[in-house]
Amino acid sequence: METSRHLLFFFFLPAVLALALIADAETNAGDAAAMRALSRSLGADRTLGWSPNSDPCDWRHVTCVDGRVTAIQIGNQSIVGTLPPELPNLTALTRLELQSNGIFGELPSLAGLSSLQTLFLHDNDFDFIPSGFFSGLTSLTTVYLDNNPFQSWEIPESLRDAGGLVNFSANSANVTGSVPNFFATAFPSLNLLALAFNSLTGQIPASFAGTGIRSLWLNNQMGSSLSGGIAVVQNMTGLEELWLHSNSFNGPLPDFSGLTKLRDLQLRDNQFTGPVPSSLTSLKSLAKLTLTNNLLQGPVPVFPVSVKDLDLDPKSESFCLQKPGIPCDPRVDVLLSIASSFGYPLRFSDNWKGNDPCNGGWLGITCDNDGKITVINFQKMGLNGSISQEFARLTSLQMLLLSNNNLTGTIPSALTTLSSLKELDVSDNSLSGKVPSFAKERYFENAGELRYR
Ligand SMILES: *[C@@H]1O[C@H](CO)[C@@H](O)[C@H](O)[C@H]1NC(C)=O
Ligand SMILES: *[C@@H]1O[C@H](CO)[C@@H](O)[C@H](O)[C@H]1NC(C)=O
Ligand SMILES: *[C@@H]1O[C@H](CO)[C@@H](O)[C@H](O)[C@H]1NC(C)=O
Ligand SMILES: *[C@@H]1O[C@H](CO)[C@@H](O)[C@H](O)[C@H]1NC(C)=O
Ligand SMILES: *[C@@H]1O[C@H](CO)[C@@H](O)[C@H](O)[C@H]1NC(C)=O
Ligand SMILES: *[C@@H]1O[C@H](CO)[C@@H](O)[C@H](O)[C@H]1NC(C)=O
Ligand SMILES: *[C@@H]1O[C@H](CO)[C@@H](O)[C@H](O)[C@H]1NC(C)=O
Repeated sequence: METSRHLLFFFFLPAVLALALIADAETNAGDAAAMRALSRSLGADRTLGWSPNSDPCDWRHVTCVDGRVTAIQIGNQSIVGTLPPELPNLTALTRLELQSNGIFGELPSLAGLSSLQTLFLHDNDFDFIPSGFFSGLTSLTTVYLDNNPFQSWEIPESLRDAGGLVNFSANSANVTGSVPNFFATAFPSLNLLALAFNSLTGQIPASFAGTGIRSLWLNNQMGSSLSGGIAVVQNMTGLEELWLHSNSFNGPLPDFSGLTKLRDLQLRDNQFTGPVPSSLTSLKSLAKLTLTNNLLQGPVPVFPVSVKDLDLDPKSESFCLQKPGIPCDPRVDVLLSIASSFGYPLRFSDNWKGNDPCNGGWLGITCDNDGKITVINFQKMGLNGSISQEFARLTSLQMLLLSNNNLTGTIPSALTTLSSLKELDVSDNSLSGKVPSFAKERYFENAGELRYR
């Protein structure tokens, strides 16, 4: 008897002490008041059984440490209600998980929740996010705001306070404006940036080159769209997932050879031009790729079986032929290298269809009856870039008209080998350097004079 009583005593003593200790760490009065306000505005006494008569630190899905509320995890609990202005009083909060409920109304400012690390607000009915929302959230690493019917908003400067940001996701959140530069400069640990199904405009900032971002989703901008070239991608060597589909990106596909971890690349429904680079067809990591509905040129690329999931409809592009792997006509190859020096302009890709540049339909190209290119007229086409020395491979060329564009660089000396060339007009561009010495008997417009700036 005596022994077992001792045993019982020793058995329970630590538990009793522990309980006493917990009771000692009294719930912080400010936190308790803020939690009661939260419970009232969410109707959580009914949905979660958060009893007004009990201590908020005893409520389900609430975690406290030393009497301070550190986590509220009430995702997917069929809660309908609003958030109270007292929320930012919970200054010890590290996790706030409210996702997948029917919480509506304005988000209160969270200014000052300097311990907050994880914020899940996605899949609710919030309709407003204040611009100072992220002010002072210096511990924030993970933010999910997706699928809320916000009034349109731009990613605010206040987000910069979250220097340790790792994942930022705001798909379908009515975000407007441009993709801020500071995602690249302010967040050295950024891993995921997801801003799909918004109304963003502008380009991928050049500063994104060299960032360690692994997942970038900018697809399906609605109403407006993202545009410009994606050369910056070639230096984003940490990328595993790149989703840029359904935008207005243009220009050639970049060199992918440095992106050795890229698994999932979605580029369909844009305006990419130029050939599919071999750095993409030979990318070992690639398993999923979409390219349909662009204006890609050159031969239909052949991908290895490791690309299990391939979306590429040759009919939707500007390939020279429809069968994979068949090379283009040599004249097409020359014209494509010429276009390459101009950055593969959209207009050429739009007009240069099929495998016969002499079929009469190719913008700026005239041929003789033997199918040899005799005239190239690219005047006033807004062309950028430089004059390709590949022109020298069109040995029957008689007229080369490039005036009134924005060409820079020099006139390639290889052009002097064109023995049939009668007229070269490069006036009204921004060329520089020496004019190569063409044989005297040939004349060069305008009005017998070669003008260049
Ligand atoms: C919240 O904090 C503000 C300012 O710090 C204070 O005035 C207010 O009374 C607090 N609210 C509650 C419910 O504790
Ligand atoms: C939400 O809860 C329901 C039932 O309680 C469950 O079936 C569903 O998988 C949950 N959804 C998420 C996203 O957790
Ligand atoms: C986005 O915001 C604008 C202006 O605030 C609003 O008119 C529009 O309905 C919102 N769009 C969506 C999809 O919520
Ligand atoms: C960030 O996103 C990645 C990729 O979706 C995921 O694997 C990781 O768990 C997320 N990290 C956090 C802290 O949520
Ligand atoms: C990529 O990085 C290389 C070397 O660091 C640099 O020369 C080049 O300009 C960068 N390209 C882009 C598009 O950022
Ligand atoms: C030349 O560059 C400008 C500015 O980048 C661009 O808007 C224009 O479309 C380019 N022209 C062509 C023909 O690609
Ligand atoms: C071409 O250059 C001119 C003068 O340098 C400039 O005003 C114009 O905007 C440029 N056009 C394009 C399409 O880049």
